[in-house]
Amino acid sequence: MKITRQSPVRRSLRPSNLPYLSGAWTPVADEVDAEDLEVVSGAIPQDLDGTYFRNAQNQLHEPAGRFHPFDGDGMIHAITFRDGKARYRNRWVRTQGFNEEQVAGRSLFGGLMEPPGLAQRRTRCVYPGLKDASSTDVVVHAGKVLSTYYQCGEAYRLDPDTLETLGIDAWTPLDGVSAHPKVDEHTGELLFFNYSLRAPYMHYGVVDKTNHLVHYIPVELPGPRLPHDMTFTQNYAIMADLPVFWDPELLKKDVYAVRFFKKQNTRFAIVPRRGSPDQIKWFEAAPTYVLHWLNAYEDGDEIVLDGYFQSNPTPRPLPDVPPEHGHMMAFLDLHSLEARLHRWRFNMKTGETKEQRIAEDIAEFGMINQRYAGRPYRYAYSALGKKGMFLFTGLVKHDVQTGQSWQIDLPADEYGSESPFAPRVGAKDEDDGYLVTYTINEATSRSECLVVDAKTMTEVCRVALPHKLCSGTHSCWASREFIEKGVVA
Ligand SMILES: [Fe+2]
Repeated sequence: MKITRQSPVRRSLRPSNLPYLSGAWTPVADEVDAEDLEVVSGAIPQDLDGTYFRNAQNQLHEPAGRFHPFDGDGMIHAITFRDGKARYRNRWVRTQGFNEEQVAGRSLFGGLMEPPGLAQRRTRCVYPGLKDASSTDVVVHAGKVLSTYYQCGEAYRLDPDTLETLGIDAWTPLDGVSAHPKVDEHTGELLFFNYSLRAPYMHYGVVDKTNHLVHYIPVELPGPRLPHDMTFTQNYAIMADLPVFWDPELLKKDVYAVRFFKKQNTRFAIVPRRGSPDQIKWFEAAPTYVLHWLNAYEDGDEIVLDGYFQSNPTPRPLPDVPPEHGHMMAFLDLHSLEARLHRWRFNMKTGETKEQRIAEDIAEFGMINQRYAGRPYRYAYSALGKKGMFLFTGLVKHDVQTGQSWQIDLPADEYGSESPFAPRVGAKDEDDGYLVTYTINEATSRSECLVVDAKTMTEVCRVALPHKLCSGTHSCWASREFIEKGVVA
């Protein structure tokens, strides 16, 4: 393995025992390029051709207050497979906040767990104290990497090869872009939403495959909400008004306290992908919070939506952890949230909603073959969570038509990352491909890239990475064809 280290960036973070700044959440401290990665087991498939991009929170500076892992600075880790070989590169996203803190040499923002007044300036983020760290999500659109932040902000474009930060798009709306913009690989379009503290509280937009904003409409909500994700079918976009949001009475006093309003239904806005506000159809369903949707598609008069229903979206603080972290740690624990795969069916003719549980496993962070996004599909790949910590211990594949499931567990002390589906070159079936993930092994203090056969849920190969990674949030797979052309054939 040939490793090239980049010039160090300015960094003031001290070693910590805090749960989300240590162990598998120890931030990466350097930027490297590595070629000819060592294959530790198996062999890299010749028909794996593309790049796995993962975003992760790698805090650079000593926090100004209590640290929430989602405050951490965004870093993209990219591993590219071609001709049975692999190369790796990681870079921080050079956000405005990153650059300002490089000059200052210290944290200039208080983060999610501190009052907004600790921030040196206001960003586009919904919660006013945030840096807009671009550390939540990553997609590929119009031939570039796009990193986004969960509380809305500036979507940053990066070069897919060098990971150089190229800047933000001129079309970025005033209320920013939420994490989880969706890319339709068949049209090359980017569908996105944002949410804010001011009316109409949500917008939805479409950016075409040439990176021009071609549609942007308000989605009027009754007040400030905290949606995290959206999804789409071939003809519709779907947004949600979830009854878990900042208490409106406390919000008037500039206090941000999340509450579950159990007597309010979950509401869904379904709108034609280029539709006007008066074409929005609203549906109601049981109260819950859903962090991530999995997929949606049209089925006759119905729209089918799959996602992860939380039975307990505002859990009590975790015991046996530092009390000042108990609340935050419960909200990051899939077992406390009781997240399970769930299906909603919306009848576009009658306005009726039907719901059913798909699987009993506590699981989240679902992935599908993206070529089936918005279309009828069969296979879901979800992450299994460690009790009490935001860490992934394995993967479960569900056949959402039959309920059959297959599971792969990582060894003890090893944790995975969100694991996108990489179609095999020349694939014929939906599950004809691989799941790709980064692992963090606490026993060896090493990281690898693990490739799993998605059909059989068995390991294909492991490739050594040049440094130990930090756990993180979202990822994507982009085939070489999709990066180069912006659409798939
Ligand atoms: Fe997310």
